[in-house]
Amino acid sequence: MLNILAISGSLRAASTNSALVEALARNAPAGCRVTVYDGLGRLPIFNPDDEGERTPHAASDLIDAVTAADGIIVSCPEYAHGVPGGLKNALDWLVSRDAAVAKPAMLAHASPRSLYARAALAEIMRTMSFALYEDAVLEIALLGKKPPQVEAILAEPANVTAMRDALKAFAGFIRAR
Ligand SMILES: Cc1cc2nc3c(=O)[nH]c(=O)nc-3n(C[C@H](O)[C@H](O)[C@H](O)COP(=O)(O)O)c2cc1C
Repeated sequence: MLNILAISGSLRAASTNSALVEALARNAPAGCRVTVYDGLGRLPIFNPDDEGERTPHAASDLIDAVTAADGIIVSCPEYAHGVPGGLKNALDWLVSRDAAVAKPAMLAHASPRSLYARAALAEIMRTMSFALYEDAVLEIALLGKKPPQVEAILAEPANVTAMRDALKAFAGFIRAR
């Protein structure tokens, strides 16, 4: 069983990115378990002085979850052509650790826009030595949709298939490493 950790970069209650990672968890194919990380909003702002023995519990929880996962999936919005601060903060807590090194990672997209954030996030994660899976792109256009519409779109058979196919492809990438 592969354990995949899914992280949404949005703290918004009606977040489309969070809905997408929740849907990935619901639609995981056999042999994969997707767990959604829910601690983004509890992480203190990263400070290199607070590493080692001073590492805050919330940051340790994130580091342990990434270390234990066979792979991670990130879905995030774009804010002012950049990666949202909350997600960048979470990634910063992982920079000086082994957790990210060679860890398989895949991006998922809930917006057909966000091209700057996609590129920036990929660059950040490659720099952190994640093994970024880039052969397939999972994009389900949820931008601007309200929760009932979001759930309806995510339940469409073609989108369920797209999510399963993306997870199967990512699982194949993880197993081949
Ligand atoms: C402060 C702020 C800045 C934004 N800047 C951009 C942007 O530069 N480019 C873009 O495509 N969308 C931008 N958006 C739109 C969000 O990326 C978009 O609404 C996203 O789908 C929200 O994700 P969520 O539903 O998971 O919260 C911005 C939204 C906010 C709140």
